[in-house]
Amino acid sequence: MTFDVDRIRKDFPAVGEGIAYFDGPGGTQVPRQVAEAIARTMTSGISNRGTVTASERRAEDVVAGARQAVADLLGCDPGGVVFGRSMSQLTYDVSRALAKEWGPDDEVVVTRLDHDGNIRPWVHAAEAARARVRWLGFDRETAELGVDDIRAELSPRTKLVAVTGASNVLGTRPDITAIAEAVHEVGTLLYVDGVHLTPHAPVDVAALGADFYACSPYKFFGPHHGVVVAARELLERIQPDKLLPASDEVPERFELGTLPYELLAGTTAAIDYIAGLASDAGDRRTRVLESMRAVEEYEDALFERLLEGLRAIDGVTLYGNPARRTPTAFFSVAGRENREVYEHLAAAGVNAPASSFYAIEASRWLGLGDGGAVRAGLAPYTSADDVERLLAGVAEVAK
Ligand SMILES: Cc1ncc(COP(=O)(O)O)c(C=O)c1O
Repeated sequence: MTFDVDRIRKDFPAVGEGIAYFDGPGGTQVPRQVAEAIARTMTSGISNRGTVTASERRAEDVVAGARQAVADLLGCDPGGVVFGRSMSQLTYDVSRALAKEWGPDDEVVVTRLDHDGNIRPWVHAAEAARARVRWLGFDRETAELGVDDIRAELSPRTKLVAVTGASNVLGTRPDITAIAEAVHEVGTLLYVDGVHLTPHAPVDVAALGADFYACSPYKFFGPHHGVVVAARELLERIQPDKLLPASDEVPERFELGTLPYELLAGTTAAIDYIAGLASDAGDRRTRVLESMRAVEEYEDALFERLLEGLRAIDGVTLYGNPARRTPTAFFSVAGRENREVYEHLAAAGVNAPASSFYAIEASRWLGLGDGGAVRAGLAPYTSADDVERLLAGVAEVAK
């Protein structure tokens, strides 16, 4: 089965309305199948989790189904899948739980390439524990993050390294496997922000070597909540704050309050949808991997055209040029405020916002202050025509 963008676009009611959506890195559009699964869960008789009534068992099944779906998406143990409100909230929770064991002699490493969701929780946790934060920059020309630079920050004092699987503005995909090797050599933990990587590449958490891997289903066709996964044995060693009557089991003890069952059903539907993007044979994990390889190939080819087109427009500055990247362009136009470009494109039905997109350290590091630049990100529903519309809009505003 091949990747057929026309077929895919028909599943997205919003895409049919004529807008070219390049704001997927902020949250993708949603296919009908996901919205229907959410509605079905809310109208089919659902109670709080339990084992006596059918509606209680339905809630149990929804949770178990979503853990298995995430395991199939990321190649991890369903027993190590933790759900929460957002990646940011989960990362704060994990950081505070881990920092209970940190002290003034300890260090954490964060990078300026990361979204603030994988920086500030660690900075705040380190502050509370009086531990030291070591900051890592990236190459301002290429936007590459050097493995050796990370290695240079490591020591027996390092408690954790937080690094992104892919930059949500520059697209850089650091070599996580090599970073994990370096991190594990000093016997410490690696927390990978997979929010921007997961929608664009096949992911195998074990092969990456991530001890924690966080992602957000709303970036890959699902509803708004967050996920963090880790090996069960690792989660067993961590004691988060929790309510007294709440389960002390793993992963439940990390999940504060009642889970959003309808959203979890939506996430299962989103992963089923991904599995069917370009594959119809084999188990769900196999289909996910095959489909995500096809997504990567499709997006890479389209992104080549986008980059080539942007480079050909006088006055456009593109930030970063990493060798391995997601299809995400970050750019500005000479003589124009980023906001003007954003508004001009919006008036032409092209959604490509301007911001730092919470990668505020990266924006500052690049000399862009807190304002960032214009971002255009591809999604599996992006068509070649969408790309031409974006390029025409940028060319017009650059005149
Ligand atoms: C790379 C990256 N990390 C983390 C986040 C934060 O995710 P959430 O909204 O689930 O907290 C985002 C959201 O834009 C992101 O792009």
